[in-house]
Amino acid sequence: MNAAVGCAKEVIGRVMIVTMDNPPVNALAAGMREALIDAVRQGGEDDGIDAIVVIGAGRNFIAGADIGRFGSARAVSTRDSAAVIEGSGKPVVAALDGYALGGGLEHALACHYRIATPRAKLGLPEINLGLIPAGGGTARLPRLVGTEAALDLILSGRHVGADEALAMGLVDRVIDTDDLRAAAVAVAVELSGKRPLRRLGAMEPAGTSAESAAAIAAAREKTRRISKFQPAPGLAIDCIEAALTEPFDACIERERRAFAELEASDVSKALRHAFAAERKAARIAGASGAAPEPVRSAAVIGAGTMGSGIAISFANAGIPVRVLENSAEALERGLARIANDYAGRVRRGSLSQDEADRRLALIEGVTDYEDIADCDAVIEAVFERIDIKQAVFARLDAVMKPGALLLTNSSAIDIDVMAAATRRPGDVAGAHFFAPAQVMKLCETVRGEQSSMATIERAARMARDLGKVNVVVGSCDGFAANRSRAPLVSEAMILLEEGALPEQIDAVMTGFGYPMGPFAVSDLSGLDVSYDTRKRRAAQYPDFRKLPVPDRMVEMGRHGQKNGKGWYRYAEGSRTPIPDPEAHAIIAGVVRELGNTPRSFSDEDILQRLLFASINEACRILEEGKAARATDIDVMWLNGFGFPRHRGGLMFWGDTVGAEVIHARVSEWAGTHGKRWSPARLLAETAARRGRLCDIEGSI
Ligand code: COA
Repeated sequence: MNAAVGCAKEVIGRVMIVTMDNPPVNALAAGMREALIDAVRQGGEDDGIDAIVVIGAGRNFIAGADIGRFGSARAVSTRDSAAVIEGSGKPVVAALDGYALGGGLEHALACHYRIATPRAKLGLPEINLGLIPAGGGTARLPRLVGTEAALDLILSGRHVGADEALAMGLVDRVIDTDDLRAAAVAVAVELSGKRPLRRLGAMEPAGTSAESAAAIAAAREKTRRISKFQPAPGLAIDCIEAALTEPFDACIERERRAFAELEASDVSKALRHAFAAERKAARIAGASGAAPEPVRSAAVIGAGTMGSGIAISFANAGIPVRVLENSAEALERGLARIANDYAGRVRRGSLSQDEADRRLALIEGVTDYEDIADCDAVIEAVFERIDIKQAVFARLDAVMKPGALLLTNSSAIDIDVMAAATRRPGDVAGAHFFAPAQVMKLCETVRGEQSSMATIERAARMARDLGKVNVVVGSCDGFAANRSRAPLVSEAMILLEEGALPEQIDAVMTGFGYPMGPFAVSDLSGLDVSYDTRKRRAAQYPDFRKLPVPDRMVEMGRHGQKNGKGWYRYAEGSRTPIPDPEAHAIIAGVVRELGNTPRSFSDEDILQRLLFASINEACRILEEGKAARATDIDVMWLNGFGFPRHRGGLMFWGDTVGAEVIHARVSEWAGTHGKRWSPARLLAETAARRGRLCDIEGSI
């Protein structure tokens, strides 16, 4: 434990103040619970003390257990320290500011009174880590706020603001103050003589009502799909249900057992890995450390699907954005698309009309480059053609104020080619969003040869301010994310040449946990899109592995959902894929022409062919210095491609199989299927030293 970490005591008048201190968010490090227990016991025994306040140092209460320490033994648990607080004979007041999460909120629940500033955010986010609250949360919370609200908080893991917390009874008072300590002392003095103390753990169980039974049944229904892959939601519901009828001690014991099972589970390990990987991705190697200036105004060039989505992302983050199109007609179409997106959200009830109007007002359409000259950042999202992009960058160079970020949303064209069209290549970088840009969480900040570190740091901050999960990558064809996924898609197509069917492959991938299989995704985005990319790549690379099956599908007019037939067929107005004998016949025709004898595949064959191909490519990407670390690849797959989070990410999953096994398979397939399977150097090295793929460090 470092010197600053701990729990400090101070006495003001007849009130003891216990301050939990572990910057930046006061996570419960080793020793802090013990120190809290000592302080509360000491306050209880001291005749000079009438009441105790528990507060966090800085601007947070406690963000929960130290995530890095899960899986290692704890001498004292939150269950223990919460019990000591609740059992105190003197009132204990929790003073909440900033984050009060997980074990932090559970300590607050054990206090006899809770006050919060308007800044406070309360929640039990354990479910996001494949866990349930284990400091009495599943037993105390329903006793305080009722079964329905407890189910909502524990199953969603969401943060609740102070006003909502007050309305649901989670806090007793909201106090708008800059001096929470003083306010908490005043409340503690007020409560000093008051008895009985409110001990949630001492309350009788409420008993089952029609309402609580309905809430439990609804929660089980809502979590049915996720429960196929994750045990935590089901166990959380069991605990909350038990809290209705069982004595507190039995509830605590049930919660303890469930938590122990979950903490050791592969699912929770994967989810904890995902959390840590996302934090790590935010660290940029070689960064100056100085906080980059935020982007306060932005411009987007091109109001097509991507441009509109990017503009919406800015408006959603409260950042004013100008959208530039060459013609008034194109601009009008783009603005209509944006308005339509907001109207859809209002219709579906996910946004109020007022909020939609407020966001729309942040988006301004322009047709003249002079009108965007003073923006802090500009993102080019025009048609993917080098000459058009270069012309845009030359124009931006001429008009944009000095220091503006010049960013491109290109998904394939070399950043350096665009930078070369300007006299300020240091200010140019990629900001690669994923469609639909207003929804998908991933943003790649692409570093060109000449992009300055200041540009990269600021572009990365911009992405984070837009609510994106940002990863810094190097410039190469497809950049890191799409490039690492391309082999998965190619192998899926090649499996068709060998006898597999789209629905079989999709079923394996949804069985693995993907929301949709690669063929259903291809139907959604349109088969014609990748058809053009393949033609371009085939012209560019002599070794390019042609994919005759999808080419034939497009040539036979099967474009996907947009015309009702692709890998599947679709009934009029429906998005449900239906296996289609006509598609099978086209595939069989190509298989015959290739002279292949169709064979059958096990689910494991299919999964390994698809994912090992991508793992091998990810190793090449790391080798070439196009990604900073293997865990960044996981972050990309989790946030850009719907890879099941409970599998941790591509490389984390690879480690559950083992680098040696993967390397052996890849080497074997290099013999049977050809050069595209040659093992990457880093895969071979990792296998040879029996290392973990997730430990591979790259560079950019
Ligand atoms: N344990 C250990 N470290 C934690 C932590 C925890 N519970 N919560 C946050 N941190 C660390 C982060 O790793 C990060 O460290 P770094 O700067 O070295 O990378 C730092 O605190 C700041 O967190 P970050 O997520 O970058 O800041 P934020 O303001 O975006 O979000 C939180 C803050 C608290 C909302 C977010 O970190 C979070 O959700 N934490 C997990 C809370 C949780 O699940 N608690 C229950 C555990 S059972």
